Amino acid sequence: MKQFKIAVIAGDGIGPEVIREGVKVLNKVAQLDSNFQFEFTYFPWGCEFYAENGKMMDDDGIDQLKEFDAIYLGAVGFPGVPDHISLWDLLLKIRKSFDQYVNIRPVTLLKGAHLPLVDVKREDIDMLFIRENSEGEYSGAGDWLFKGQEHEVVLQNSVFSRKGTERIIRYAFETAKKEGRSLTSISKANALNYSMVFWDQVFEEVSAQYPEVETASYLVDAAAMLMIKDPKRFEVVVTSNLFGDILTDLGAALAGGIGLAAGANINPERDFPSMFEPIHGSAPDIAGKGIGNPLASIWSASQMLDFFGYEAHGKVVLEAIEQLLLEDQVLTPDMNGTASTSEVGDRVSELIATII
Ligand code: NAI
Ligand code: MG
Repeated sequence: MKQFKIAVIAGDGIGPEVIREGVKVLNKVAQLDSNFQFEFTYFPWGCEFYAENGKMMDDDGIDQLKEFDAIYLGAVGFPGVPDHISLWDLLLKIRKSFDQYVNIRPVTLLKGAHLPLVDVKREDIDMLFIRENSEGEYSGAGDWLFKGQEHEVVLQNSVFSRKGTERIIRYAFETAKKEGRSLTSISKANALNYSMVFWDQVFEEVSAQYPEVETASYLVDAAAMLMIKDPKRFEVVVTSNLFGDILTDLGAALAGGIGLAAGANINPERDFPSMFEPIHGSAPDIAGKGIGNPLASIWSASQMLDFFGYEAHGKVVLEAIEQLLLEDQVLTPDMNGTASTSEVGDRVSELIATII
């Protein structure tokens, strides 16, 4: 029997609450299929760990994670620890150390999910965002000169390497080709006269190698408008780190809310573990109340199943989420329900058993 070793970093706030339900669902899927099982190892890293140890993770944390097949992450960040520390010293450290240069974020309106737009058909919201996840605006290159003085200067540089730009665009073309869908590039070459002119050029170059893939290209501001006015234009989408971060929150709002938005940080070469996480944060305002929506975490668990080659099982998990939404009974307060986090996880598990 295949055994997958999963490192769980539940993190802060509602992180542990929602991850518990994702683990429940993964165990349920494994229980119904005798070909594989999961072994979960828990790491206590995050802001509480920081408060006790002055660091977000163990010094050799990256080495400890290396041997796992995947990382399952809740959320990091909590009042008391500056967000740039919690983000850079844990989440971004993992993404960068493990060269997880592809961030896959589905923006698909599931059956039964809340459709926030008028004049748009629900099946028109079905995009797959492929966000550059290793460099760009989040390269961390910069400086803070003369800090605190009258003439202080801050520099936050974007880094677009040929290797980094080409590989994400190529990955997106491969995905669009495999899925038989169009590919849209989102950039901003009018204002960002080096980085985004380069991005557009690389997109053109790689595009020439995929004549079968229909393409479109938009400026990011226009794209934000079009995602609302005419979402069906967008199928597979490739964009930079910052633009992808922002537009996928907009995407989350289009596709049923932040409680449903999942993401995968992929190292396609599989040299290192990939990481699966909901895109929401630790939601300190509702932490500890047992009402965080676990569906985004559960969806990212289904992305993990896909990544392991169990696409049929991943699909079952998504179908179970859809059925839950259609039933409209066991939902958390963010979806106008009254259920608890664990009740939602239980119901999804029950539905999985009826589908498999
Ligand atoms: P957030 O996503 O934690 O919360 C935004 C709003 O959405 C809140 O009202 C929250 O209650 C609600 N919400 C989020 N997820 C929910 C869920 N699953 N179910 C029900 N409601 C949900 O974003 P915010 O407030 O900007 O950040 C809070 C902390 O999380 C900060 O420290 C931030 O740095 C961190 N953060 C961490 C991320 C990560 O670990 N990947 C991503 C985004 C933020
Ligand atoms: Mg974000």
